[in-house]
Amino acid sequence: MPAGTKGTIFTVFSTAYAVGKTLIAVNIAAELARDGFKVCLADLDLQFGDIRYYLKLEPEMTIADAERAMQNNPNEVKMSNYLTPFHSGNIHFDVLVNPDLLEEAYNMDISLIRTMIERLQLEYDYVIVDTTSTFSALNLSMMDLSTIIDFVGLVDFIPTIKNMKRGSDTLKELGYDDTKIRYVLNRSNARTRIDASDVEQILGKHFDYVLPNDFMTAQKSIQFGEPLVQKSRDTELAREICRMVDKYAKPGTEEEQDKDSKGGFFSRLFS
Ligand SMILES: Nc1ncnc2c1ncn2[C@@H]1O[C@H](COP(=O)(O)OP(=O)(O)OP(=O)(O)O)[C@@H](O)[C@H]1O
Ligand SMILES: [Mg+2]
Repeated sequence: MPAGTKGTIFTVFSTAYAVGKTLIAVNIAAELARDGFKVCLADLDLQFGDIRYYLKLEPEMTIADAERAMQNNPNEVKMSNYLTPFHSGNIHFDVLVNPDLLEEAYNMDISLIRTMIERLQLEYDYVIVDTTSTFSALNLSMMDLSTIIDFVGLVDFIPTIKNMKRGSDTLKELGYDDTKIRYVLNRSNARTRIDASDVEQILGKHFDYVLPNDFMTAQKSIQFGEPLVQKSRDTELAREICRMVDKYAKPGTEEEQDKDSKGGFFSRLFS
């Protein structure tokens, strides 16, 4: 990547727990890396992040170490010293792992995390950010920076759908450009009495991607620490995740990212 060029940031977000954010983030990263891009995956589920487990990583450094170093000497910090490499076959990417301890995660400085992600953006073609299911200052800051927000939902219970609607309306009220939000329905064919088309009507949006329920494939990939786009490539689930990547597997323009980072809620809050 030429010096000064910014990579593309995907943030994977939801308004409900356990909808598949981490599985999707890991596999977007893996597929982009498989396509030959330089990719960094950041686990910003600071307290309960799962990426280290989903990929069977044994990190020597975490985001908490990076944050401590940045507090002392921000300009001297090399992000590469705080990343954990992941290798599987022809897939290689780096991971910014969540803190080891809950108490480290609790008090992290959001502006330093933002600076870390901005630095990674200068070094990587793609930065994939996994998040928690809340409208937190950290998540909003990431959504501001992002080129693409993957808003993941499930059609299971009424409260999940209510929160999806609230989330979607809130993103709109906060002024996020609708073209950067992709609506992703996960576990679409799970047993449920609720019809996805009714949910689309409630949301006033069509799902851009519909990922099937595939317990065995998802479970196997977590059990063996292997992205499913690698080991279960022939499944419908892998194919749909690949489709999420194929459409955007090209570096975003700086203009787009500047527009996004100036237009978001977090920047307006502190301007
Ligand atoms: N399409 C799918 N089919 C079957 N199981 C799935 C699918 N997607 C995710 N899962 C399973 O659902 C569980 C939750 O997935 P995941 O951890 O990715 O969700 P999450 O949104 O990151 O959760 P959290 O809110 O706890 O961070 C995992 O056990 C995963 O294997
Ligand atoms: Mg998760």
